[in-house]
Amino acid sequence: MIHCSNLYFHQYQGPLAKRLVEMSGLARAFFANTGTEAIEGALKMIHSHGRAIHPEKYQVVALDNSFHGRTLGSLSITGQAKYRQDFEPLIPGVRFVPANDIPALEAAVNEQTAGLVMELIQGEGGINPLTPQYVAKARELADRFNALLVADETQCGVGRPGTYFAYQRSSPVVLPDVVVAAKPVACGIPLGFILANEKAAAAIKPGMHGTTFGGGALACRVALEFLGILDELLPAIQRVGGYFHVSLNELARKHRFVKEVRGFGLMLGVELTMPGKQIVQDALAEGLLINCTHETVLRFLPPYIVTEKEVDQAVKTLGKIFAKVK
Ligand SMILES: Cc1ncc(COP(=O)(O)O)c(C=O)c1O
Repeated sequence: MIHCSNLYFHQYQGPLAKRLVEMSGLARAFFANTGTEAIEGALKMIHSHGRAIHPEKYQVVALDNSFHGRTLGSLSITGQAKYRQDFEPLIPGVRFVPANDIPALEAAVNEQTAGLVMELIQGEGGINPLTPQYVAKARELADRFNALLVADETQCGVGRPGTYFAYQRSSPVVLPDVVVAAKPVACGIPLGFILANEKAAAAIKPGMHGTTFGGGALACRVALEFLGILDELLPAIQRVGGYFHVSLNELARKHRFVKEVRGFGLMLGVELTMPGKQIVQDALAEGLLINCTHETVLRFLPPYIVTEKEVDQAVKTLGKIFAKVK
């Protein structure tokens, strides 16, 4: 059976929800098909949560340079003009603040704030990790103003940073109210999910949200298989990711047009002082698949099974291309 209506029980969804709940420290799971669809669900949670408190409580605080997907709700909280401009007006009530700017965050959050949404490591924005202090402040403000703190882990989560989720990297862990993710969880079969604590989940009553394909049997079965080996993969993600980071830093020291190497685990970025498009094309011609985000940041999101030997090969290829840059 590939799929059955979500009106009926199937044997994989419950165990997958249980596994995700255990991994995240949150209480409840809802399945979607993509990252953007999961974000839409989280936005509905934010709006419904705020509305239950006061009709004017619908503002969402999001970050400059963020990316949350291509549907209208997700675009509303995406802080990059190039993705939004052709589709405005979008959902009102969103305030954008610069990442890691605590005074700006304090100035933006108030009684009308129903939610704060952030990627713990911005992906499309150029591999920008949030500082633990900033995330702790977001948690404190969300609590003070009874708003939901949502972590979009679509790109930076589900093992990629070397932990299950990027918010688990800091000690003590700052737990969001809602976590959203998708991409790797069913190894290429579309599956997204929203994890929520009881308070956030209470904002969505039966009938208020739904999906035909989210949480289908095939996707859940594959996700269970993947999560079954994730614990084995995590130490390798940390080790190979660390090795990759060091190797990129060594390369960076030899080239003045490299500004910085950033990221964690197998989510790494190399910021250049110039556009990176040509380097991406040259790398493709050499059989190395990377991309460039935010114009100047080479982004590396290799598969979780990448080895040190393959990293050596990649860095060698990159070194060859860097050496030719005028
Ligand atoms: C942080 C983040 N959120 C949401 C999305 C949207 O996910 P999807 O393409 O599965 O809709 C992406 C996709 O790149 C993403 O990086």
